[in-house]
Amino acid sequence: MQILTMRRPDDWHLHLRDGDMLEAVLPHSSAHFGRAIIMPNLVPPVIDVDAANAYRARIEKALPSGHDFTPLMTLYLTETTKADDVVAGYESGAITAVKLYPAGATTNSQSGVRDIETVYPVLERMAEAGVPLCVHGEETDPAVDIFDREAVFIDRVLAPMRQRFPELRIIMEHVTTRDGVDFVRDGPDGIAATITTHHLIINRNAILAGGIRPHYYCLPVAKREEHRLALRAAATSGNERFFLGTDSAPHLDPAKVSACGCAGVFSSINTMGCLAHVFEQEAALDRLEAFASLNGPRFYGLAANEAKITMIRREAPVVFPEKIETRSGPVTVFDPMFAIHWDVDTGA
Ligand code: DOR
Ligand code: ZN
Repeated sequence: MQILTMRRPDDWHLHLRDGDMLEAVLPHSSAHFGRAIIMPNLVPPVIDVDAANAYRARIEKALPSGHDFTPLMTLYLTETTKADDVVAGYESGAITAVKLYPAGATTNSQSGVRDIETVYPVLERMAEAGVPLCVHGEETDPAVDIFDREAVFIDRVLAPMRQRFPELRIIMEHVTTRDGVDFVRDGPDGIAATITTHHLIINRNAILAGGIRPHYYCLPVAKREEHRLALRAAATSGNERFFLGTDSAPHLDPAKVSACGCAGVFSSINTMGCLAHVFEQEAALDRLEAFASLNGPRFYGLAANEAKITMIRREAPVVFPEKIETRSGPVTVFDPMFAIHWDVDTGA
């Protein structure tokens, strides 16, 4: 039996939703993770500090007793966001970051930013005050092919933004391409990227080959194999600029399995087992702690968690449910298409 002890991980990109869904999914994150960056794309979105405080209170109320979990709140950037609200919220500790959704890029992004230059005054104040910007990096111009949206976004939006605001701390969320990895790895300091568990495991064939599989559909959509390999190399390299953001994004099954299904993969329940499997395959188990527990807090200017977890490699596969139940219906769990042998022992 192999054992791996590491600092408790954090999830630097997580959708917890609200109501019945929040209640059902939160315990799966809080069982393993010490903190998570909470995405603000609720309906209506979390657009000011009062809404972020109210959402944090609902998360804390839904937290199972005995779970030690800190939600790190974010604000959803709109074209009318007030820089004063952002800076005051950051300085008081109410929020940890601001999230940029290009309008129309993904689930509940219709209130996002249409013209990036309209939010430049807010970005300028964020750069001065050190407020991190989490970016959904996809171009939404309908003329751009969906598989090229990340690469085009880098050219049209991200590269000019970096030039204009070199002090702004940027997290390129859920990077899915070699282009994104290169941009983050090779540029000046002040940029990092999160990588999801599922983008390390699937390429676009999982969605489309041999039948359409909606549970593998997410945004940014998984790309070709060469991109998955670039993500795996980045995640397992130990490079401080890359860290875990699961983007676990639950939707009820009927919303996924539909003629127009929602984007999102629910993975918080088996993420750590999947990651240990990937890092083992890459002979990089000794770098899993950097990816899941150390690089994220370092970039955000926070201390790593004091607590530790132990991961145990079991002979028999660890059994995960195919679905979890919420009061409103089932949510399908990410199926990595391999048996998971790594189990998490939190010592709880
Ligand atoms: O697949 C995704 N699902 N990507 C996103 O950017 C949003 C998320 C969601 O909220 O469902
Ligand atoms: Zn997301």
